[in-house]
Amino acid sequence: MNYRHAFHAGNFGDVLKHVVLLELLAALHRKPSPVHLIDSHAGIGLYDLTASEAQRGGEYRLGVGAVLADAAAERILPGYLAALKRLNPDLAPGGSGLLRYPGSPWLLKQALRSEADRLTLCELHPEDAALLKRNLGRDARVHIHHRDGYEALRALTPPTPRRGLALIDPAYEAKDEFATLSKTVVAAHRRWSTGQLAIWYPIKEQKAVDRWKAELAGGLGAETVAVELTVRSAGDARQMNGSGLVLVNPPWQIGETLAPMLDFLKTRLARDSGAGVRIETLVGG
Ligand SMILES: C[S@@+](CC[C@H](N)C(=O)[O-])C[C@H]1O[C@@H](n2cnc3c(N)ncnc32)[C@H](O)[C@@H]1O
Repeated sequence: MNYRHAFHAGNFGDVLKHVVLLELLAALHRKPSPVHLIDSHAGIGLYDLTASEAQRGGEYRLGVGAVLADAAAERILPGYLAALKRLNPDLAPGGSGLLRYPGSPWLLKQALRSEADRLTLCELHPEDAALLKRNLGRDARVHIHHRDGYEALRALTPPTPRRGLALIDPAYEAKDEFATLSKTVVAAHRRWSTGQLAIWYPIKEQKAVDRWKAELAGGLGAETVAVELTVRSAGDARQMNGSGLVLVNPPWQIGETLAPMLDFLKTRLARDSGAGVRIETLVGG
């Protein structure tokens, strides 16, 4: 396991993932009943952007930094901006004062409301699992496992309470990662048919990603939507040209909610004229 998310926190993939995640959480909050939130590949939960890992590649500057450089972000992405401000009290328009970046576990923890809500976090890297425990603090509602997230998704679903969502955000280091992921998602959906699943994926070669999504959605047979943001023309399949999320059991009208946000992200995160946004229904409701 070589991947450490501290080198990539706040990059364009994180921005898309976290903007979408916050909208899924806002939709869950429309009902008062308790929820169980799962993050199968959690990372360390919270990132210091002044640390050498973040500074080395500076990926966050072309991600969250580029978003904050436009004052319109406040109006178009209010939930995302509110989270950044909660973590960075000195955050100023334009982005100065951005010192820390929230990982998905931190965003999920902020979404817990009642004593009956639960958050389950899995992280397999031993050092990152220890940092996750340190960063998320103590809260009886939060369960942190140093554990394989794929195995946990089979073992821990359906969760209690049953209403909720799982973010599945692998590092894509293994050659057979997409195959393992698909099998796990289908198994988790069979066990937890009402659960929302949000699966993040990198886009290197668009055609290969399209084949994977179609196969996955076919195997699920549940309402499934994919949202994608590419930041440059797909000329070089060795690099990440964009990313997306497959959303199983998405909230009502999620496409309409996300469309203006994604259009804004495209203008802020584009590296060339090949940047684009796609919101596709893979299986209709
Ligand atoms: C992309 S990062 C997660 C980022 C995090 N979800 C966020 O948005 O802040 C992927 C994480 O998965 C961890 N990981 C890799 N394989 C895993 C597995 N089989 N089970 C659980 N975690 C794993 C890596 O160590 C890494 O921290």
